[in-house]
Amino acid sequence: MAFCEIAFRDLTENPFSLIGDDWMLITAGTEEKCNTMTASWGGLGVLWNTPVAFTFIRPQRYTKEFVDAQEEYSLCFFEGMHDKLGYLGKVSGRDEDKIEKAGLTVAVEDGVPYFKEARLVLFCRKKYRQQMTPEAMLDSDIIAKFYPQNDFHEMYVGEVTKILKKEV
Ligand SMILES: Cc1cc2nc3c(=O)[nH]c(=O)nc-3n(C[C@H](O)[C@H](O)[C@H](O)COP(=O)(O)O)c2cc1C
Repeated sequence: MAFCEIAFRDLTENPFSLIGDDWMLITAGTEEKCNTMTASWGGLGVLWNTPVAFTFIRPQRYTKEFVDAQEEYSLCFFEGMHDKLGYLGKVSGRDEDKIEKAGLTVAVEDGVPYFKEARLVLFCRKKYRQQMTPEAMLDSDIIAKFYPQNDFHEMYVGEVTKILKKEV
């Protein structure tokens, strides 16, 4: 099945279930060397009059090095595949060739890596990033629950530059 490009206004997905339930892969790098990680926190919306995606990446993720090194990254969504996304969200690309082990196929669009097996791909151009800090947190319960190791996420705002959807 081939991908076709759709306009962001034609995206009919529920962002809560798309990201929170289906999960996504954040992928960055080059065709030769890229890394990916599972994410289930994030958002889609509008900022500075453009469609954007918000992603949240903890400092220890290997994928963060790739996202930081590149101008663009992709967000891939799949049909099911929670077993594979669970694996890609547990093991680090520092330790294993996890893309190969998960049996995923890297493709590139305008030089940005994504996966052929995805059903939906959002390409994002980095526009802003900001480190979360304990001082800025308004609910200390969140710190106790999610940041006992002080590994606060960095937030990335990426302009959604292209959306590819698999034709059915
Ligand atoms: C369902 C699920 C959701 C996750 N969501 C995030 C997330 O939003 N942000 C994050 O930093 N890590 C998240 N993770 C953890 C990373 O995917 C995981 O640490 C991964 O192994 C990092 O791989 P890397 O070191 O190759 O980048 C999630 C893991 C799972 C299983």
